[in-house]
Amino acid sequence: MSPFLLTRTLPEDATGAALRADVLHGLTRAAHDPAAGPATGPAVAAIRPAVVPAAKSLPPKWFYDARGSALFDEITTLPEYYPTRAEREILVARAAEIAEVTGARTLVELGSGSSEKTRHLIDALPALHTYVPVDVSESALTGAANTLLAERPALDVHALVADFTRGLALPGTPGPRLVAFLGGTIGNLLPAERAAFLGSVRDLLSPGDALLLGTDLVKDESVLVSAYDDATGVTAAFNKNVLHVINRELGADFDPGAFTHVAVWDPAHEWIEMRLRSDVDQTVKIPALDLAVQFDRGEEMRTEISAKFREEGVRSELADAGLSLTHWWTDERNRFALSLSTPA
Ligand code: AVJ
Repeated sequence: MSPFLLTRTLPEDATGAALRADVLHGLTRAAHDPAAGPATGPAVAAIRPAVVPAAKSLPPKWFYDARGSALFDEITTLPEYYPTRAEREILVARAAEIAEVTGARTLVELGSGSSEKTRHLIDALPALHTYVPVDVSESALTGAANTLLAERPALDVHALVADFTRGLALPGTPGPRLVAFLGGTIGNLLPAERAAFLGSVRDLLSPGDALLLGTDLVKDESVLVSAYDDATGVTAAFNKNVLHVINRELGADFDPGAFTHVAVWDPAHEWIEMRLRSDVDQTVKIPALDLAVQFDRGEEMRTEISAKFREEGVRSELADAGLSLTHWWTDERNRFALSLSTPA
């Protein structure tokens, strides 16, 4: 039997406390808080911004309870949602090259989820000694580890229950280490959050280690909007799932049927924004926060940004974090990229 270790770095109630803080902050913020997006100050008052920032917002990480995770898995099979297939195409084509270039003995995967895509990488890494999946979901981690260990019984798996956006301590495992952050999830972070995140990843790396980063690329607006507003409404259900989560966890009385799913492309920021638009004037009670929140008819609340990238932008964000881009791989149709970078 090979060792399977699981380390919890999240305190038991961390999730509940973080949800309460995020909901309180996101739903009570004043309309022109700079954190809500660019304000229309006097200098630009005459120019109506293409995408008017929403005052209210919720962070996308709260989509992913069991139902939300299942809905996301369904999204990855939709004809409109290309990123998962495009990234898998790159992984299949380049796994051997990634293995060759990195010689990784430890693979750390941030936001590993079901570890499905990573299998291509794990299978291609002959020298791999330890796999360190990192996720906030303990059930996802144990499930993925069991499947993996059934096939690679000699592999050490050291799972970490952790929120990798809040600084990370890794177990002492053999180098070289490859840290993978796949799926384009970095696009869910705002630019300042991305800078902080990449800086903290850089701090985990020693000479000879590398970061493998998945980024979705800027493309035609209609392709992007369809990917986030599919014909069968799975993404709409996924988006509204955050309201179900808040109802269950905080005793709120959101009526998901009174909100409409919206996906907009913001060309200035080059990100897709998912929103929920209130269909009516309504007041929502959130007992756990002792709060009542007013939504005007037509008012929109931001629930996710999903930034899209260009090679030069990725290169410069990595450089700002002390990482130099050494490889840039895309799928045949240039929709998605995997980049490899090393400590500068
Ligand atoms: C899992 C964060 C990569 O931003 O494309 C899918 C989540 N949101 N459809 C993305 C998502 C709407 C997805 N990530």
